Amino acid sequence: MSFSLDGVGLTHANGYTALADISLRADRGERIALIGPSGAGKTSLLSVIGTALAPTAGQGTVLDSALAGDAPRGQGLKRLRARIGTIHQAPPIPGRQRVVTAVLAGRLGQWPAWKSLASLLYPMDIPGARAALERVDLADKLFCRCDQLSGGQLQRVGIARVLYQRPDLLLADEPVSALDPALAQATIRLLTADAEARGATLIASLHAVDLALDNFPRIVGVKAGRIAFDLPGERVTDALLHALYASEGEELPVQAHEPAFMTRQRAANDAATRAACC
Ligand SMILES: Nc1ncnc2c1ncn2[C@@H]1O[C@H](COP(=O)(O)OP(=O)(O)OP(=O)(O)O)[C@@H](O)[C@H]1O
Ligand SMILES: [Mg+2]
Repeated sequence: MSFSLDGVGLTHANGYTALADISLRADRGERIALIGPSGAGKTSLLSVIGTALAPTAGQGTVLDSALAGDAPRGQGLKRLRARIGTIHQAPPIPGRQRVVTAVLAGRLGQWPAWKSLASLLYPMDIPGARAALERVDLADKLFCRCDQLSGGQLQRVGIARVLYQRPDLLLADEPVSALDPALAQATIRLLTADAEARGATLIASLHAVDLALDNFPRIVGVKAGRIAFDLPGERVTDALLHALYASEGEELPVQAHEPAFMTRQRAANDAATRAACC
């Protein structure tokens, strides 16, 4: 078991309930896409699984450690977090930091304190950082300052950081939101292939439904802080997607503009029908 949530809820300090009664589990090596409208609770859910936020209701485990109650602290929590890699929706990388240092930060939790400190002054594993950056096509930016990069390049530095970390559990929150469609597809393939090759678990939130359906065997729909569905990709129907993204009370399935994933799916259906006719 990679993680398991049982009736988990999350109410923020201001009283807002972002997650309610979430039960979700993943075996080691599973690849899961989280989809759902803005504000549904995807980042909140990833934050709970990643131990950044403690659930305020229910219980769960991540990599065999409790998330609530006797959850690890101090060194135990540090060891647990070293096994979890997070790609943040907005990479929390200081602008003045060099790209090489930002990538090597992926292993700070695994290194002894002296090595982490020394690496901030002089990068300890330049070949390792270069190899990770090569995988996202950014090796030429090794010694650039992070505030000299474009948004998409910075996002790929965040991805190189987790590739370098080699975590057992990879949480990717909108990992390709700043990339063009071709690069987004290639980068998602890189992440899924890396997780598959290492037997790591990958859970990624994605706004691009077609990327989710194309690359992930299991799709979890989140809406208003709850799990709307948890299905193999081939069982996710247009009706489920419409219901997931429709606002409360909206008449279904009437839509003025067809979403991109519907257009694609209809084109594929038409092609299949034509092929069957010939
Ligand atoms: N620290 C916080 N305090 C209060 N409410 C919060 C906090 N963080 C998130 N929320 C609220 O919780 C809800 C879920 O937010 P979350 O960021 O998890 O959504 P999301 O599905 O990731 O959205 P998006 O697709 O826009 O990234 C939102 O209504 C948000 O306003
Ligand atoms: Mg989010």
